[in-house]
Amino acid sequence: MDVRFVLLPGDGIGPEIISQTRRVLEAVATKFGHAFEFTECLIGGIAIDQTGDPLPEATVDACRASQAILLGAVGGPKWDDPSAKTRPEAGLLRIRKELGLFANLRPIAPFAELLDSSPLKREVVEGTDILFFRELTGGIYFGPSSCTTLTGGGERAQSTMVYETSEIERIFRLAADAARTRRKKLTMVDKANVLEASRLWRRVCAKIVTEEYSDLEYEVVLVDAMAMHLISRPSTFDVVVTSNMFGDILTDEASMLPGSLGMLPSASLGSDGPGLYEPIHGSAPDLAGKGIANPLATILAAAMMLRHSCNLPAEAEAMEHAVQRVLSAGHRTADLVRSGEPSLGTVEITDKVLESLTGG
Ligand code: IPM
Ligand code: MG
Repeated sequence: MDVRFVLLPGDGIGPEIISQTRRVLEAVATKFGHAFEFTECLIGGIAIDQTGDPLPEATVDACRASQAILLGAVGGPKWDDPSAKTRPEAGLLRIRKELGLFANLRPIAPFAELLDSSPLKREVVEGTDILFFRELTGGIYFGPSSCTTLTGGGERAQSTMVYETSEIERIFRLAADAARTRRKKLTMVDKANVLEASRLWRRVCAKIVTEEYSDLEYEVVLVDAMAMHLISRPSTFDVVVTSNMFGDILTDEASMLPGSLGMLPSASLGSDGPGLYEPIHGSAPDLAGKGIANPLATILAAAMMLRHSCNLPAEAEAMEHAVQRVLSAGHRTADLVRSGEPSLGTVEITDKVLESLTGG
């Protein structure tokens, strides 16, 4: 199979983890007899430095012409000036919008080998297997916003949460379909006791469940209560669907369950066109250039990419099993061990994944 991928290394540790993941993808192509072609493009802070724009037109064009996109991370202190004309994160938000990537899938399933790295007790985390569906192109991230100067002094800023029926329906159906292939439990998270937009979510979702998904166990949970349940009884959830902002916050919270952000992949999908895959961690500027960043989340994101955008499930599984075997053999990056304990660097752990992939 011939596949064209766009790689968006971005900032901080992005280039290091993307170049290592590319090695793994190249090994998969060789092993399974595919031709993978990679185009590297600019996004984020590095794109601002080189072109003045966090998402240059050339990047958007290349992404549109590709089958799937693998992103490292964007942002860093260099571009944090609040008065700057643009920010690296704006590039990420724009590519989501431009490509219509309305569904962000974030699986949270701790590896058995890493249960003791979780800040929570093993018995709380054990058995957790959650798939988040975060709405990604609407809500307060994209609603009307403004900031004006008040005549009496001070300023007034507003950001607005806006949702339309169709935006809720499409993400909800994707989540419900996924629940059907899993443990048939679906949790919708909102703040319907306060927000009008949440009350619309509640009506729209309830109607779809009654008409199309009565086989599912369906529940609604308020976002503040969900923040609590996620750390007290994470293993009771299966598929969770929610709006953009709530999903942003809850998935960061949930990402701590497996013990390290360095292990978690995510996929952003639209109704057609390329999907965008990335680790859920950020650009970790403090680790950049040291060769110690954990590339496993990006390798797992690449596996999701082969499964969801290329219909190559066996190849995806081979990558996931290779990562699993590396962990089972006791190999760890610095983020997965206590300080002072021995660990492998970015390249070394990738070497182990490659050995496992080509040997297994
Ligand atoms: C994420 C990130 C982004 C978001 C930032 C970098 C704009 O936190 O992907 O979760 O808020 O969506
Ligand atoms: Mg986030």
